[in-house]
Amino acid sequence: MNILEMMRNSTAGAVLPEEYKQFSVQEMEERVMEIKARLGKRLFIPGHHYQKDEVIKFADATGDSLKLAQISAENKDAEFIAFCGVHFMAETADILTTESQKVFLPDMRAGCSMADMADINQTEKCWSHLQETFGDTILPLTYVNSTAAIKAFVGKNGGATVTSSNAKRMLQWAFTQKERILFLPDQHLGRNTAITLGIPLDKMAVWDPINNDLQFEGRVEDVKIILWKGHCSVHENFTPANIEHLRKSKPDMNIIVHPECPYETVVLADYAGSTAYIIDMIEKAPAGSKWAIGTEMNLVQRIIAQHPDKEIISLNPHLCACLTMNRIDLPHLTWSLEMIEKGENTQIIKVPEEIAKDAVLALNRMLERA
Ligand code: 13P
Ligand code: SF4
Repeated sequence: MNILEMMRNSTAGAVLPEEYKQFSVQEMEERVMEIKARLGKRLFIPGHHYQKDEVIKFADATGDSLKLAQISAENKDAEFIAFCGVHFMAETADILTTESQKVFLPDMRAGCSMADMADINQTEKCWSHLQETFGDTILPLTYVNSTAAIKAFVGKNGGATVTSSNAKRMLQWAFTQKERILFLPDQHLGRNTAITLGIPLDKMAVWDPINNDLQFEGRVEDVKIILWKGHCSVHENFTPANIEHLRKSKPDMNIIVHPECPYETVVLADYAGSTAYIIDMIEKAPAGSKWAIGTEMNLVQRIIAQHPDKEIISLNPHLCACLTMNRIDLPHLTWSLEMIEKGENTQIIKVPEEIAKDAVLALNRMLERA
């Protein structure tokens, strides 16, 4: 669903009723606890690492995008899944769960600006241009941070989804299938991953979906990967200048960043990996070690609180928040659970069958190799 469709939904009864803004935190927490107790195993609340603490404290499972997709595929018990994350994650959960399980997104406006940077019409135009230029030599891969329609396109064309945890393995697999890869929609994850496989920058082209333009200097025959010109509006805020400043002011800090950060940042960092990788690295680090983290603010603040024995800061001193992740807050969670209990489907996420049947091919090709 794109931003316009979400706004349309928000005017169709999916807006938080005024009274939820008046409730005290204690009252909302009690309501959530009571509903969780009443529904028991019928209700499951997955929470992405970037969610706020006020929501994460009620999650039955937390994880990065890969873990949440795996959990969704395994969970056959829950009738109701209240997904605390963003729209594409709830769509993935709907695709991977059974027909009788219902997935809800507590705030229908919780989208992802990166996922919105690739729509299906643009993708089809790009594909026909690439087929004309390169013939049948390309396999599409899409980051899970994409719409269900893009996943379906990728599934139909023999490709797979990837997450930031398994992008390297999936790209290696993709090159056993075809000579070239179209990587949607995050140019940074695509570039950072291709570099780890030894593909030089001068063999990477960029597809500009606004101007329908293949950006590449050199011979087209040399192109190994075509990067869709999309990015994460949170991670692009971690810059080489942040790192250069830190190397001078605190030279003993380890710098760890998410691979959605630009390549120029990732090459200067000490480590790069998914949210699960970042959490794991800091957990294993010795007491007294010093870390600057380049990822979303809620996660950085949680890691800081959980490790008082280590010195941890955000790589960008102006903490970078994902505003759409933050739309899922305690009032929305409370409201959503109450709607679920009443049998209201206002916040339901349902991927149409004709899209889901192809999207699941792309997801399963990833899950089989995860
Ligand atoms: P991961 O969960 O794969 O680390 O991705 C982070 C992210 O931006 C999710 O939207
Ligand atoms: Fe999308 Fe970036 Fe927010 Fe993740 S952090 S949901 S990629 S905008």
